[in-house]
Amino acid sequence: MATTVITFLTLLAPIWSLQPLTPTQYHGIYQLSDPAIKADCPIWDYRNNILYFVSIYEGEIHRYDFFKQEFSSIFLDGEVAPVIPSVRDSNLLIVGLNRSVAAVEWDGVSEPSETRILTTLAPDFPTSRVNDGKADKEGNLWIGTTSYEGPNEGILYQVTCENLDSPRIEIAPVNISNGLTWNAANDKFFYIDAGSTQVVEYSYNDETGEISNRRVVFDVNDHTEQVIGSPHGMTIDEDDNLWVALYGGGAVVRVNSSNGDILNIVSFPTLGVTSATWGGPYLDMLYVTSSRISLTNEQKLGQPAPGTVFFVVGLGTKGRPAYFVDILDSIDKECEKKMHI
Ligand SMILES: *[C@@H]1O[C@H](CO)[C@@H](O)[C@H](O)[C@H]1NC(C)=O
Ligand SMILES: *[C@@H]1O[C@H](CO)[C@@H](O)[C@H](O)[C@H]1NC(C)=O
Ligand SMILES: *[C@@H]1O[C@H](CO)[C@@H](O)[C@H](O)[C@H]1NC(C)=O
Repeated sequence: MATTVITFLTLLAPIWSLQPLTPTQYHGIYQLSDPAIKADCPIWDYRNNILYFVSIYEGEIHRYDFFKQEFSSIFLDGEVAPVIPSVRDSNLLIVGLNRSVAAVEWDGVSEPSETRILTTLAPDFPTSRVNDGKADKEGNLWIGTTSYEGPNEGILYQVTCENLDSPRIEIAPVNISNGLTWNAANDKFFYIDAGSTQVVEYSYNDETGEISNRRVVFDVNDHTEQVIGSPHGMTIDEDDNLWVALYGGGAVVRVNSSNGDILNIVSFPTLGVTSATWGGPYLDMLYVTSSRISLTNEQKLGQPAPGTVFFVVGLGTKGRPAYFVDILDSIDKECEKKMHI
């Protein structure tokens, strides 16, 4: 009888009170948002505990206030990816809009400002659009494009306060410029062309922001017994392991960035996993975006809520704070750095 009671109580106990816990053994996956066609580019603003992400094809920027548990969103006139808050003003959002980099001031409550175009990329490829992007430690924007027309029409750029008229090309050609991140020492840059099966690494010069010495860190084709799909968006944890969304593979895979070993596979109830970022007040929740654009009607029946944002708790690790963009002082003012040139 006593044994029965204890077992029953154990079952009722919250998961965190069960001992011992080993990292990732008891992770839980929850659905956060309503579905979009393609949710992508999640970023956590630790200054105000806000998660931003985009619905690329609806042209929406979404903002989730963690403590209020409230969503709000705005529409821009075009396809939108990514969204990154600014260093100087957390409501000054830098976005990719069609083939341009744009700025919009929005506090999540009031009407947004007019959208201001800062620069337009890839002039040689009019049918391309901006895809994923992130700020580096200096606040410069690394942002890439992808084309609807043909192969080899994507480009990864570095956009700075000084080079808005002519952003610097970093990697070209690519097919679908996608995931990117830096290690803690800021001497390695990781990059994904989602047209490939690989995650690549470059040496990163912390002083000059230059990349060199490309090498392949991880190739899905070397792990076909464990994972499928193509690497898409990614983030990194405090131990410099990569968390790579596998589009078409229904998983985020944790990869040792030194030797390419798979350390964990977190499966999701949809194949179209697009990207991931660390968030929550302790940066220990993994926010994961997904898409339903490539799913057949039959697949949609079997995959609840593709296109939603999920969050995962209990992974036993956490991320580092994101960098924000510093290419504009305010919506109606150029950045100061430019003035000194
Ligand atoms: C983005 O592209 C769409 C489709 O061509 C167009 O309707 C829209 O006006 C564009 N947005 C901007 C800001 O140019
Ligand atoms: C882009 O895709 C095409 C077609 O799959 C391929 O031949 C080409 O090598 C790819 N380009 C790059 C830069 O990987
Ligand atoms: C990652 O790989 C490096 C180099 O092989 C190794 O020293 C390190 O222990 C590995 N990390 C984990 C978490 O397995």
